[in-house]
Amino acid sequence: MPSKKNKRKRPDLRPTIHPRNKYADKPPDFTLLASLYPSFKTFVFYSRDGRPRIDWTDFNATRELTRVLLLHDHDLNWWIPDGQLCPTVPNRSNYIHWIEDLLSSDIIPKNNVNGNVVRGFDIGTGANCIYPLLGASLLGWSFVGSDITDVALEWAERNVKDNPQISELIEIRKVSSKQAPNSVEQNGESAMSDSKLDVSCNLIECREEPLSSPSFALPTDMHTNYSGPPILLGVVRDYEKFDFCMCNPPFFESMEEAGLNPKTSCGGTPEEMVCTGGEKAFINQLIEDSVILKESFRWYTSMVGRKTNLKFLTSKLREVGVTIVKTTEFIQGQTCRWGLAWSFVHPARKIISPPVAEKSILSFTLEGLQHQSSAMDVLLSVESFFLTCGASCRLNTSSFTVDIKASNDQCDTIVKNEAQGLGNKPLEYTFNSSVGDLLCFRISVFQQIPGTLLVKASLQHRDGPLSGLFSSIVQQMEEYLTSKFCRRKAKPR
Ligand SMILES: C[S@@+](CC[C@H](N)C(=O)[O-])C[C@H]1O[C@@H](n2cnc3c(N)ncnc32)[C@H](O)[C@@H]1O
Repeated sequence: MPSKKNKRKRPDLRPTIHPRNKYADKPPDFTLLASLYPSFKTFVFYSRDGRPRIDWTDFNATRELTRVLLLHDHDLNWWIPDGQLCPTVPNRSNYIHWIEDLLSSDIIPKNNVNGNVVRGFDIGTGANCIYPLLGASLLGWSFVGSDITDVALEWAERNVKDNPQISELIEIRKVSSKQAPNSVEQNGESAMSDSKLDVSCNLIECREEPLSSPSFALPTDMHTNYSGPPILLGVVRDYEKFDFCMCNPPFFESMEEAGLNPKTSCGGTPEEMVCTGGEKAFINQLIEDSVILKESFRWYTSMVGRKTNLKFLTSKLREVGVTIVKTTEFIQGQTCRWGLAWSFVHPARKIISPPVAEKSILSFTLEGLQHQSSAMDVLLSVESFFLTCGASCRLNTSSFTVDIKASNDQCDTIVKNEAQGLGNKPLEYTFNSSVGDLLCFRISVFQQIPGTLLVKASLQHRDGPLSGLFSSIVQQMEEYLTSKFCRRKAKPR
């Protein structure tokens, strides 16, 4: 994690919005929207500093803002009844763009079952139906949006029908809270039945309860055992293939817990916000469903509201033997949520990160240094290379070393080469660690002969959870330093 000092100094380094988000460069302009939409104007007031504001604790104001943003920026007609969960458009768009990144990253092969149309499944689409509306209008994706409540299903349908330009792309599917896990109330078609399930896998044999009785029927541990309606199993039909599923789960175990933020009013009924066991149980069940549905989805994804749950869920994913786990952070004003993604599809490309570093010391030389660049110049560039990715750095100018601590996400940024924009093909890797894990290493710079420097990287814990990324990170740093300082390519290690 970046040190507090670094965070304060470089607040711009903390990504709050996806770069392709419509609002990344230009947040919503309340003055403009108020001038165009009189119904929105009534909610806009000007604070002493002259800035236009709305009262975020007023549900009518937040709903009207969402309505005009969807209309003005996305050509979408939209409404929800009083009290239903009201989405904020920029935040919800971040999740869509993260999925877009996962799909385009060819880590796992495309299935092409649905032609070129990307097909997604939005678990709990809500009355607002926000993800299918955004995914279809921004990217032309097709969706099944499921839900359990009559009001959500009725209003999601309305929101789809009111947008004929994309309505063909979205199916709203009812999940009955009382139905058997292997049936779904839609057009009389049966969903995936037990007889079609892959029961040959070892993981499944390890389960304590028989496969034909999924754990939602047998609540024993309130915190992980889900006792609600089906999530995917019994809702997805046996011939269906999806590129991804997404889910903004009922996060909370009670409405008291849900009513936490007095600074905003985004609505939300108990059916939308609460389930027994909260998000931990819900996503745990989603993981169990995915173990059975396996490659019916290329990517399974969910939002996670609590870091402790993210840790629990990533370990669970490791236990069930997924091929890939990816996480991301979504910063939403003062709150932070996480995106969790996993897959059972075998990676298409070589995954470069072994679980343990092969070597704990790596070095390379920088030869033919330009403009008489010194060891100090290189050392400062090492520091800025890692700071740009948000990693914590301790520079010691007397020993010519930088001590670096990088989190999962920061390693991800470095390995994918995003930070320096070198334009290389991004490298992909598995993510075998938990939130909070750090990769700690030291970079030392030595003068060898005039015009040549030796850069040495020493890993602190060779068997640490992120150590498999060490060589990729050093490789990225080497490329960066070589392109910055050398006339010739660095000498191979
Ligand atoms: C937090 S809301 C999310 C709504 C919307 N996707 C959003 O992001 O604003 C959770 C939704 O999941 C629905 N839900 C709860 N259990 C479900 C299940 N087993 N299957 C489908 N939807 C479910 C709720 O009715 C609610 O609409």
